[in-house]
Amino acid sequence: MFSKNTIYLFIILVAATLLISISTYFTYRNSLTAVEDSLKLHALGIAISLESALSKIDLQKNIFTDIVAEGKWEGIAFISLYNQKGATLMHSNEELISKVVDDEFIRKTIATRESVYGYMTLGTDENIFVLNFPAHIHNTFSILRVALHKYPFEKIIRQARFQAISAITVVFILWIMGIFFFRTLKKSEALNKAIEESQRLAMLGEMSSVLAHEIRNPLGSIKGFAQLVLEQSKGQETYTREIEEYLSIIITESKRLESLTDDLLLYAKTTEYRADAVDISAIIDESVKNIMANIESKVIDFKLSIPESLTIKTDHDKLKQILINIIQNSVEAISENGIIEIIAKHKNNLIEILIQDNGCGMTEEIRKNIFKPFFTTKAKGTGLGLAIVEKLLKSIGGKIQLQSEYGSGTSFKLIIPKQI
Ligand SMILES: Nc1ncnc2c1ncn2[C@@H]1O[C@H](COP(=O)(O)OP(=O)(O)OP(=O)(O)O)[C@@H](O)[C@H]1O
Ligand SMILES: [Mg+2]
Repeated sequence: MFSKNTIYLFIILVAATLLISISTYFTYRNSLTAVEDSLKLHALGIAISLESALSKIDLQKNIFTDIVAEGKWEGIAFISLYNQKGATLMHSNEELISKVVDDEFIRKTIATRESVYGYMTLGTDENIFVLNFPAHIHNTFSILRVALHKYPFEKIIRQARFQAISAITVVFILWIMGIFFFRTLKKSEALNKAIEESQRLAMLGEMSSVLAHEIRNPLGSIKGFAQLVLEQSKGQETYTREIEEYLSIIITESKRLESLTDDLLLYAKTTEYRADAVDISAIIDESVKNIMANIESKVIDFKLSIPESLTIKTDHDKLKQILINIIQNSVEAISENGIIEIIAKHKNNLIEILIQDNGCGMTEEIRKNIFKPFFTTKAKGTGLGLAIVEKLLKSIGGKIQLQSEYGSGTSFKLIIPKQI
């Protein structure tokens, strides 16, 4: 169903999407780790500097307020110092001094005597990064807490997010372009197929017309001589029923071949046209009469509804051929008895002729193929009838529409310009 090119295109798109998605995912994940690493490093640097500064001064004096106010270090939310019981010895917010803090970070730092990292939420709902550092100041174990705002460090995440959005946009554009390309590809493949098919048909048409020409003359002689022999042998001694039967077969089969060569020539002929004044009622009448003359062993009720004095300018012979081919098909679609309705209408500068039968109808498969030359479902059909109809209609600027249901019947609508 899908061509090789389409499959390659699809594989390239899927591969590009996967590649971009995976690399975006890893870039984003790495950016999260990078932010945490830089927060840790920054906090640790501050903690070590503070530890050494505090070792040199008297702990009665709160220096943290000044440090935060100076803005020496970027991103400090607060800094504090606790003793082993969690009592606040020093705090950048003086009001909190001597308050006892008992949270999991303090407990873990006391228990492990190692740095403990984590996140906590402030009363302002801001989530901050916290380092709890085991400090040894004046030979006493205390806990130094450095709390950092995350936003100055989240630049990397913002960049990664921007990259992710750009990547999603690129993937989206790639797929839109892919779909567009896929549709163009499909169209051009269909076009190529149509060109190949029309070249094949043109060659077939040319060959058929050469063959038809070559067959026509000898066929005329065969039929003519068979008719002559049949006439001359009547009443002679050697004349028998068998001879009459054999000669009649030669004559009917020759006639069949003649009509086939006529069809082939008609199909292959160039599409010049004449502009005659054509009375629609009269031409439909003539066509129906032509066909009725050849109907054997069927009862067909023709119902005609055609406005009087509806005259158009078109090629008389071509329109008649079109009508005969379509009506003939309707007759052939009816097995024993049936109705064929022909309705003509005029609409602005067009006329519509509807030919409707209650015959066998067509399956979907047949409907798809009926205009292809040599497509037939009949034992003695050539399959050229509707191919000729289509070609002749085109040459007089007309169109044909089909509606058919298997088992119920068929209707063809001819739409023809009033002026060729
Ligand atoms: N009115 C119809 N009802 C049912 N089937 C139809 C009708 N008209 C056409 N068809 C189908 O379309 C096919 C092609 O028709 P087309 O006239 O081109 O060829 P054909 O009638 O088979 O042979 P011929 O060259 O003798 O006309 C038919 O064989 C038939 O299956
Ligand atoms: Mg036919």
